[in-house]
Amino acid sequence: MNTGDITFRTRKWVRPEDLNANGTLFGGSLLRWIDEEAAIYAIVQLGNGKAVTKYMSEINFVSSAVLGDLIEMGLTATAFGRTSLTMRAEVRNIFTRESILTVEKIVFVNLGEDGKPAPHGYDSITYDRDRIPVKIANAQN
Ligand SMILES: CC(C)(COP(=O)(O)OP(=O)(O)OC[C@H]1O[C@@H](n2cnc3c(N)ncnc32)[C@H](O)[C@@H]1OP(=O)(O)O)[C@@H](O)C(=O)NCCC(=O)NCCS
Repeated sequence: MNTGDITFRTRKWVRPEDLNANGTLFGGSLLRWIDEEAAIYAIVQLGNGKAVTKYMSEINFVSSAVLGDLIEMGLTATAFGRTSLTMRAEVRNIFTRESILTVEKIVFVNLGEDGKPAPHGYDSITYDRDRIPVKIANAQN
């Protein structure tokens, strides 16, 4: 498939509660942010609020961030399977543009009402909001 370039959408401000004992950004906070970002991306792409994390490949913490840094997170879809969506993630420092983290493979699985993997029927990225689940779209109106 034709994968899109990574679009950096979400920005975060590194606050005291996000630091480790070394005084730099705690990996656990970063992973929570990435997992949430990937969940939102998968929901929008698959048009289903019930998409769950299945797999994350090795995570490369390239550099760190410190208190007060602004960071930005980006994702792109790299493969649409039958029930799964595979993404690549990158986080970078807005001030220095340095890469903080990369995850080559994050796999989300599209679930049916019964909680089992269900075909999503898509094979390419949407750049629009045309797949937003009706239930979610209605709740916002
Ligand atoms: C998600 C879940 C329902 C999938 O069940 P499963 O029995 O592995 O389902 P399947 O074997 O049918 O695989 C489903 C899809 O995941 C893919 N997949 C399964 N294991 C994978 C792995 N280790 N790496 C990459 N992809 C994987 C399969 O290739 C398949 O994709 P496709 O349909 O696009 O080809 C089940 O594993 C589960 O409930 N996991 C917990 C999910 C969760 O709670 N996540 C939150 C974090 S704890």
